[in-house]
Amino acid sequence: MIHVTAEKGVTRIEIARPEKKNALTADMYARLAAALAAADRSPQVRALLLHGSRECFTSGNDVSEFLARKAGDRSPAFDLFEVLPGLDKPVVAAVGGPAVGIGTTLLLHCDLVYAAPGARFRLPFVPLGLVPEFGSSLLLPLLAGYQRAAELLLLGRPFTAEEAKEAGIVNAIFPEETLFEEAQRAAAALAALPPESIRLTKRLLKAAGREALGARIAEEARLFAERLGSPEAKEAMSAFLEKRAPDFSRFRTD
Ligand code: COA
Repeated sequence: MIHVTAEKGVTRIEIARPEKKNALTADMYARLAAALAAADRSPQVRALLLHGSRECFTSGNDVSEFLARKAGDRSPAFDLFEVLPGLDKPVVAAVGGPAVGIGTTLLLHCDLVYAAPGARFRLPFVPLGLVPEFGSSLLLPLLAGYQRAAELLLLGRPFTAEEAKEAGIVNAIFPEETLFEEAQRAAAALAALPPESIRLTKRLLKAAGREALGARIAEEARLFAERLGSPEAKEAMSAFLEKRAPDFSRFRTD
């Protein structure tokens, strides 16, 4: 489900749950966070590469687990929230196919993001009756500008690799057949550079707003947990699992 391999200073972490479009379970979050943290600590590792399959990066949090979560339960995504933004070593991500929810927001914490032309991004928090997570309500407006961030976060519509590149989420688009090779090449290039210089530069790049980011991740998580128990979210998620269109017409705005 989370496969880890290492070669020549690059640790490769693969999200693999093809039957559910690589949806992330609590166990997978824990394994992913542990793999990232272990690679960051290992003296043999100089760069990390994160990917799914060529057909799918990840469909985000497992929706059934969202529905089963009780009020006050700690979000399993916290394992990832705590580790990924603070990694010293550079992280390259390669995205083929859908990257939904946390599949897109985690990319905002990676250093280089490459996508195939068929990659499809989506931040469906509002359509699911939720609010943005993983600092995306702070980072996306900074990266893409307010209007573009509002379009992607309020409408929650899918967007293409080209749009993700224009929004600054993706560095470059490579053909599906060479995507992983290019991402591996970039990770190897990072691994060949002076590691202490990389570490210090990454820290400097991420220094501005580090405290604000931590506070925003916590605030989003508080609201997100509240929203998970809301009738709006229950309707949205049940509709997804029942393969029907959600109906929000009974919810009032006052
Ligand atoms: N959680 C749980 N199950 C999921 C899932 C998720 N996030 N994403 C997909 N699945 C399941 C589907 O229910 C389906 O299961 P089934 O075969 O038992 O019916 C299977 O994975 C295949 O998904 P399907 O929707 O048929 O594939 P698709 O190629 O038509 O669409 C996606 C792929 C990723 C675009 C679509 O599955 C999707 O939008 N998923 C939900 C994403 C989501 O809302 N995530 C939460 C973000 S906060």
